Amino acid sequence: MTAALKAGRGLELRPLHLRDAKALFPLVEANRERLGRWLPWVDANHSVLDTRAFIVRVRAHARAGIGQSFGLWWKGTLVGTAGFVWIDAANHSAAIGYWLAREAEGHGLMTAAVTALLRHGFRSLKLNRIEIRAGVRNRRSRAIPERLGFRHEGTLRQAERLGGRFVDHAVYGMLAEEWRRR
Ligand SMILES: CC(C)(COP(=O)(O)OP(=O)(O)OC[C@H]1O[C@@H](n2cnc3c(N)ncnc32)[C@H](O)[C@@H]1OP(=O)(O)O)[C@@H](O)C(=O)NCCC(=O)NCCS
Repeated sequence: MTAALKAGRGLELRPLHLRDAKALFPLVEANRERLGRWLPWVDANHSVLDTRAFIVRVRAHARAGIGQSFGLWWKGTLVGTAGFVWIDAANHSAAIGYWLAREAEGHGLMTAAVTALLRHGFRSLKLNRIEIRAGVRNRRSRAIPERLGFRHEGTLRQAERLGGRFVDHAVYGMLAEEWRRR
């Protein structure tokens, strides 16, 4: 299992552990409405048991090398998650996903977490390409890759079914060579 990643300013990315379910589920519950606007899995997460099942799944993905999910701990409190939602080892490619609790928004925490994931992905995992997909109307999410110098590569039309409608995704990519010379 990967070690924790330090992101500065009291923020640490720790690989999700089963014992985190007790802190993670109430966070999902308290943020259900705003998270559900953009994250389809929220609708299927209704108990600590569901959260445990999610953690079991992401830990299996980490062992198989096809994903890596971290709890975001800010000054010792769990405030969200971030990580590689998939890793395509054959193509040295991965996608980052994330969410934060309302009270942790607006402090630059996710920008710092994604910065740490880029360093980990390009240096330790030897990735060549890292992407972020966000709903075209998800302004706060899109601001993160834009702030970090990702290239906006285009739009995937009706890429995701969310709340009974199809939403377009903005796709952002960063290549290892771009990250090295940033
Ligand atoms: C997407 C999401 C993680 C963004 O959170 P966020 O707090 O806006 O992002 P950051 O942590 O990078 O913080 C940026 C904000 O902190 C401010 N900030 C303060 N210090 C900062 C710093 N040192 N560096 C960068 N930003 C800083 C920025 O100005 C910005 O605030 P503003 O938008 O009011 O100007 C959050 O809105 C969320 O969880 N949304 C719901 C789930 C979701 O949409 N997930 C993504 C699906 S693709």
